[in-house]
Amino acid sequence: MDEPILIRPLRPGDSEPLHAIRLQPSVVAGTLALPSDRVADVSARLEQRGPDDHQFVAEAGGRVVGTAGLRVGRGKTRHVGEIGMMVDEGWRGRGVGGLLLGALLDLADGYLGLTRVELEVVADNDRAVRLYERHGFETEGRKRAAIRRPDGLADLLVMARLR
Ligand SMILES: CC(C)(COP(=O)(O)OP(=O)(O)OC[C@H]1O[C@@H](n2cnc3c(N)ncnc32)[C@H](O)[C@@H]1OP(=O)(O)O)[C@@H](O)C(=O)NCCC(=O)NCCS
Repeated sequence: MDEPILIRPLRPGDSEPLHAIRLQPSVVAGTLALPSDRVADVSARLEQRGPDDHQFVAEAGGRVVGTAGLRVGRGKTRHVGEIGMMVDEGWRGRGVGGLLLGALLDLADGYLGLTRVELEVVADNDRAVRLYERHGFETEGRKRAAIRRPDGLADLLVMARLR
């Protein structure tokens, strides 16, 4: 369990392990993932990625244990990046999320020159909100009743980090 964590770009073959993480109950609860999402949906989304889509994968002991992605805006939002991430339930609380987020922010700051990085997170996802706050994100607003879950409609927080 003390294997080093490697952060690398996405590559072919990652769809199946990423799909398995996407279907974990806490990922379904904390993101837009549906329990019916198919491997083919994940592969199609990964294949459709263009030059403005950047994605890192975390690997430990040869296994994919998490991912984080950033999409750069077009036209007048060229300075903005939108991010999302997930970590395998068996690997939480060991800094994988922090490493993935750090890699995205280094890319955004050091190479892409983005001055605003934003995201939306389910309002009761305290763990994710804390992780983002530790990396300089602030809550800008709340989209009420924005996402449906089995227990009812939930709010989304809009968070951003400006540089
Ligand atoms: C949000 C999420 C990505 C965080 O991933 P993670 O790998 O657990 O994140 P980290 O380990 O870097 O940080 C989380 C916690 O572990 C702690 N931690 C970090 N490094 C640690 C280490 N080496 N040893 C022990 N604990 C550590 C952090 O202090 C933090 O604690 P806190 O939340 O109690 O303050 C993960 O919970 C997840 O995938 N959730 C489901 C999907 C999701 O919600 N995605 C975000 C949608 S916007």
